[in-house]
Amino acid sequence: MTDSARYAWLKDELARLDHAYYVLDDPILPDIEYDQFYRELIAIEQSHPDWVTLDSPSQRVSGQANNLFTEVKHVVPMLSLNNALENDEAIAFDRRCREGLELPEINYAAELKFDGLAISLRYENGILMQAATRGDGFSGEDVTANIRTIKAIPLKLKGSHFPEVMDVRGEVFMSHKDFNALNQQAIDKSEKTFANPRNAAAGSLRQLDPKVTAQRTLSFYAYGIGQCEPPQQMPQSHSQLLDAYQQWGLPVCEHRAVVKGIDGLISFYEKVGQLRDQLPYDIDGVVYKVNSREQQEDLGFVSRAPRFAVAHKFPAQEALTTVLGIDVQVGRTGAITPVARLAPVVVGGVTVTNATLHNEDEVRRKDIHIGDTVVVRRAGDVIPEVVSAILEKRPVAAASFIMPTECPVCGSHIEKLEGEAIARCSGGLFCPAQRKQALLHFAQRRAMDIEGLGEKIVDQLVDLQIVRTPADLYQLGLMALANLERMGEKSAENLLVAIQKSRSNTLARFIFALGIRHVGESTAKDLAKYFGSIEALMDAKEEDLLQVNDVGPVVAKSLIGFLQESHNREVIEQLLAAGLQLEVEQSQINPALVGKTFVLTGTLPTMSRDQAKVLLENAGAKVAGSVSAKTSYVVAGEEAGSKLEKAQQLGVPVIDEAELLKLLNSSSN
Ligand code: IVH
Repeated sequence: MTDSARYAWLKDELARLDHAYYVLDDPILPDIEYDQFYRELIAIEQSHPDWVTLDSPSQRVSGQANNLFTEVKHVVPMLSLNNALENDEAIAFDRRCREGLELPEINYAAELKFDGLAISLRYENGILMQAATRGDGFSGEDVTANIRTIKAIPLKLKGSHFPEVMDVRGEVFMSHKDFNALNQQAIDKSEKTFANPRNAAAGSLRQLDPKVTAQRTLSFYAYGIGQCEPPQQMPQSHSQLLDAYQQWGLPVCEHRAVVKGIDGLISFYEKVGQLRDQLPYDIDGVVYKVNSREQQEDLGFVSRAPRFAVAHKFPAQEALTTVLGIDVQVGRTGAITPVARLAPVVVGGVTVTNATLHNEDEVRRKDIHIGDTVVVRRAGDVIPEVVSAILEKRPVAAASFIMPTECPVCGSHIEKLEGEAIARCSGGLFCPAQRKQALLHFAQRRAMDIEGLGEKIVDQLVDLQIVRTPADLYQLGLMALANLERMGEKSAENLLVAIQKSRSNTLARFIFALGIRHVGESTAKDLAKYFGSIEALMDAKEEDLLQVNDVGPVVAKSLIGFLQESHNREVIEQLLAAGLQLEVEQSQINPALVGKTFVLTGTLPTMSRDQAKVLLENAGAKVAGSVSAKTSYVVAGEEAGSKLEKAQQLGVPVIDEAELLKLLNSSSN
């Protein structure tokens, strides 16, 4: 193949792959291979700059700024739609169409009303030449450079039977996923968030620098047509237009139908109403269009809206109300979330009286005061949230939010670690809001290992107020347990035995079981080794903690916060009073294994991977989750998969359980 033929092939192939990925949502090739083609295309373009055409995938992000302030005249104006808010208005629309056309029943094309921005894309001989916003309907702004960055929009149409000149009309919008990711980035950088996907899409399109737009993922659906030359090439009906668009590689929404009469319209409306919460993007209604182009022309326009189409809206997902107060809620992990108490307001068909404010920083960033008039949003199953405050309406007496210093549930102090957005209640062992979580963590296998103390039992013990803190577990009697649901006498006995057995445990497991933030199993082991008793740990100062292997300022602060909380100290003392025997494990360090890294994979014949891990770590070896050139040994059992393959590729020695035991035993001798 000549270079130029290869170049043409690469352009088509990359366009085909983009179409599969961004329009059909059905990728053909893994990213790596796509990238290879792309790099090859760039290399050819570098040696032949004169070959580069507008439809090359390399031209999606140009170095040039948008001509945002350049006016683009719409040859065919971009109109707006009349709204129907109630079924009655949809019925009236259908009646007017029937009377106007003197027909007993009409075929309609029904589709979604996307909540984004209208855009007109000009294709000349199948090549995207210009893109413009709606503006005032007669002329808009040139946003070509930004629109070119949207990968779902083809730079070149597929096939050949398209009009020479064609304005494709449609909506640019942002999906929930891309919106959330964008806002999360803004939160991470302490920047202002966008109130909703529509604003985010609008903000992204109005960027002067297309490189910024290219980093925001925008989506597009085509739903109409402006100028078409030659006009005879315009499809005869709206549904045929959308089908043709799809053939040419333009994104068209799958949720569309041709329906008969008002009954068809209403049932489409209801069906989409059910679907709305599951869609990955916002819609604010459905749109009905008389399907036949000829009938559309017969009906014509009134002022600036067509008579042949109407938008049947859904209840709004945003509403205005006032903030009566801001409370804080305590989550299962102690996270403190400010919640706005609102004057009741109907949003998305549901009465909302509370809305989350996420965290303290968000309250500041959004600048929300008590007494403010705010925009509340409720989309899908998402928890209602306060989007923004209307500053012009702020009463003089509006008070700003003050984060409490004590947990509203248990009175323990609230702390916020540096670099974390979330404030937390520090009374982890004591706080009723965190009880269930704390007990489950305490009882888990890698902590105190109380077999049989699972979620169902913990729920009942806490709900019936039989157990409040882990210390109460050691006061449980057979009667209390046997009376629980799903609990026979036998299992109650077993559970009691398990609780009894957990009394003698290692100090490391006990420290881990306390559920101190940032203190995982391995830190707990280091702490146990260093301090040797729980009393010594409880007396530790920050500088002592910092001496411990792998304990940095974050872990040290978290430990201090936990241990300073008198409620937690009481629970620890009660636990000790219950007669726990906490041993410090004797080190079984095997010098031959120190500094060696093992990876465990597959099912070992006699021991679990967790057991093998403990043995190895006690001997001084490290256990890693993935194989690399630095891995010393891979221990493979039955049905070992990709890790074994990787080891073989890298030439890492692979051993079985018997060989592992030999290695371990060589240590104790
Ligand atoms: S057709 C002549 N179809 O709604 C009719 N518009 O008020 C032109 N929109 O500015 C519009 N989804 O931004 C049409 N399926 C759809 C739509 C849709 C959303 C927006 C569009 C337009 C506004 C009309």
